[in-house]
Amino acid sequence: MVENPVICDCNDVCKSDIVDKIKDKNLKTINEVGKELDAGTGCGGCQFDIQDILNEINN
Ligand code: FES
Repeated sequence: MVENPVICDCNDVCKSDIVDKIKDKNLKTINEVGKELDAGTGCGGCQFDIQDILNEINN
């Protein structure tokens, strides 16, 4: 099992980058994650995964 998978292939952003940024900046939306890390701003295919991570941390 990959512990720190790449979530956004377009912009090469892995899960730990997203988790750390969400916690650090108290991010709530996919848009906010995109502004901070560019994750989800390419093909958009990873946006469901980003939402899952947001839910994991904020819910
Ligand atoms: S994989 Fe994240 S925008 Fe394409």
